[in-house]
Amino acid sequence: MDFAYGGKVALHDIHLAVEKRRVTALIGPSGCGKSTLLRCINRMNDRVAGARIVKGAVLVKGKNIHDPDVDLTQLRRQVGMVFQKSNPFPKSIFENVAYGLRVHGEDDMEVLNEAVERALKQAALWDELKDRLQAHALGLSGGQQQRLCIARAIATQPDVLLMDEPCSALDPIATLKIEELIHQLARDYTVIIVTHNMQQAVRVSDFTAFLHLGRLVEFSPTEQMFEQPKEKLTESYLRGTF
Ligand SMILES: Nc1ncnc2c1ncn2[C@@H]1O[C@H](COP(=O)(O)OP(=O)(O)OP(=O)(O)O)[C@@H](O)[C@H]1O
Ligand SMILES: [Mg+2]
Repeated sequence: MDFAYGGKVALHDIHLAVEKRRVTALIGPSGCGKSTLLRCINRMNDRVAGARIVKGAVLVKGKNIHDPDVDLTQLRRQVGMVFQKSNPFPKSIFENVAYGLRVHGEDDMEVLNEAVERALKQAALWDELKDRLQAHALGLSGGQQQRLCIARAIATQPDVLLMDEPCSALDPIATLKIEELIHQLARDYTVIIVTHNMQQAVRVSDFTAFLHLGRLVEFSPTEQMFEQPKEKLTESYLRGTF
């Protein structure tokens, strides 16, 4: 696809087939279009006036996400997102995780309790937080808040989880916890993560896409890309001689 903000094309000729239940990392210099590409996958760019796909399409499970019969709330449930800066709602821990289900009309406490417990377990937070589910989410540490946002995103059992630099505001220990978590999540979810940290891409991802000036330069299994990049441009970027 090609994607433009108004008259300015930000993504050119992107062809990318993301593997199901694997972690795909998007890397590349600042401004190359990583966040733009990520936001195309759950139509987050819809909010930006004049922003649109000018050619091609994004398919999720074979379905064009811009088809007129696609329900945006449903799509966002299917394709969850975690942002750079954790953004818990000013509510209890429980209500943060239950939020997505409530939006979809769920109010059976048994169902909600079960979903919150499952999501917090998957986000490696259950043991830490199970005794204070009614506490305010904003009282958690930065790393816990980010894992809470991951729990919130997975509570509705999406197919795809988008993460835009989810660790960039965290210390190394909190970062490692999130990285471990991403590994675990890839058993159940298709994860696409933007990162500026090459070591992180190596640690967490199965596939890496390298973008430069809005173009997809290379898309390969991560090991292969870092050991034997196909393109000169990738090599110089990875070596830092760019
Ligand atoms: N809302 C917007 N309106 C207009 N142009 C935008 C908008 N958001 C991004 N752009 C432009 O699109 C291009 C790609 O930006 P994008 O934010 O996707 O880059 P990025 O790779 O995520 O960069 P970074 O690593 O700094 O986060 C840039 O030229 C940017 O200025
Ligand atoms: Mg970005």
